[in-house]
Amino acid sequence: SKVVLAYSGGLDTSAIIPYLKEEYGCEVVAFVADVGQGAAELEGVEEKALASGASSCYVVDLKDEFVSDYIYPILKTGAVYEGKYLLGTSMARPIIAKAQVELALKLGADGVAHGCTGKGNDQVRFESTYAALAPQLEVIAPWREWSMRSRPDLLNYLAEKNIPTTASAEKIYSRDANAWHISHEGGELEDPWCEPTEKVWTWTVSPEQAPNEPEYITVKVEKGEVVAVNGTALSPFAALETLNSLAAAHGVGRIDIVENRLVGMKSRGCYETPGGTVMMEALRGVEALVLDKSAHHFREQIGLEFSHLLYDGRWFTPVAQAQLAAAHSLAQLVSGEVVIKLYKGQATVAQRQSANSLYSEAFATFDEDEVYNQKHAEGFIRLFSLSSRISALKQQEK
Ligand code: ARG
Ligand code: SIN
Repeated sequence: SKVVLAYSGGLDTSAIIPYLKEEYGCEVVAFVADVGQGAAELEGVEEKALASGASSCYVVDLKDEFVSDYIYPILKTGAVYEGKYLLGTSMARPIIAKAQVELALKLGADGVAHGCTGKGNDQVRFESTYAALAPQLEVIAPWREWSMRSRPDLLNYLAEKNIPTTASAEKIYSRDANAWHISHEGGELEDPWCEPTEKVWTWTVSPEQAPNEPEYITVKVEKGEVVAVNGTALSPFAALETLNSLAAAHGVGRIDIVENRLVGMKSRGCYETPGGTVMMEALRGVEALVLDKSAHHFREQIGLEFSHLLYDGRWFTPVAQAQLAAAHSLAQLVSGEVVIKLYKGQATVAQRQSANSLYSEAFATFDEDEVYNQKHAEGFIRLFSLSSRISALKQQEK
């Protein structure tokens, strides 16, 4: 039989290859998704997979699709998990698992396997995708069944099998990177009283070390999508890369949170999402000009609801797709331009404009105006507060 493994080149999935061959007597095909995690992680990954005993290794370039078909649609919803987390890992799981399933079906495999632990969110995200797209495939999650518990255990196992590895016993953090973000968990970060040091952060400079001069960048938005930066038209992936490097240099996009995992426990994570933080600000900046109050409040509700769906691995569900469609519909109005100020860890909208703007200086001004009659407010407030007035009067009658 044949199993397609979601392979990263790291120690865990390297040990999974011989494990599957031994326990299941199957052929193991390594599947590597390129979601923009960077050249360093992908370098030599095929050789590594074969050295661990995979029969073949497929590296699939999903970078453009990831940004165009996952990140950009999600941005329109404004999803942010628990007020802070821009969902970088959650966004990537559905596309990775989908491509893995497609390969498994193409190769006529009997099962799929992943290297997620039994304590995390990722197992749920992978397996919910398998369930939605190919329920007939067998699912193998070695971390939930083998007795190995630590990196030294895995290294011993590989040594027993005479499989070479460059992995070390000491690896402090569990990291996950893609075009959108890098996450850091584990090590001393498991103590929420422990402030992350500069050893943790890898993409961004610290705000303290960032330039003392702010940098202003222009971001052009069309129908809820970033289409140009500083006057240069860019593909979604290129726009994200450009903003990543501009924002990282100013220490933008670091967060440190204690979050609620789907499986019940709280966990502490540090995340770097430099370009994504700027994109989010840019879209919200234009949106504030063009969406009327109820449309804007509806978009906020979608963002909250969608953050939970995405975090919980529910991408391939009718409700998630309906929310994406609603956000896409609202985004048709969201076109314009913002100037973002990057300075010492912050990205703030300094200027914004849109041809669809509903903002009217004539109406909003505190100065004298000719368009608004303040007397009209009296009757409005009278009716707006009528129910309070009636209940207070009833109280007084008692
Ligand atoms: N806690 C974050 C999330 O659930 C990040 C998970 C990182 N995953 C990993 N395999 N290192 O989205
Ligand atoms: C894992 O447990 O595999 C990573 C963390 C998570 O999925 O939340």
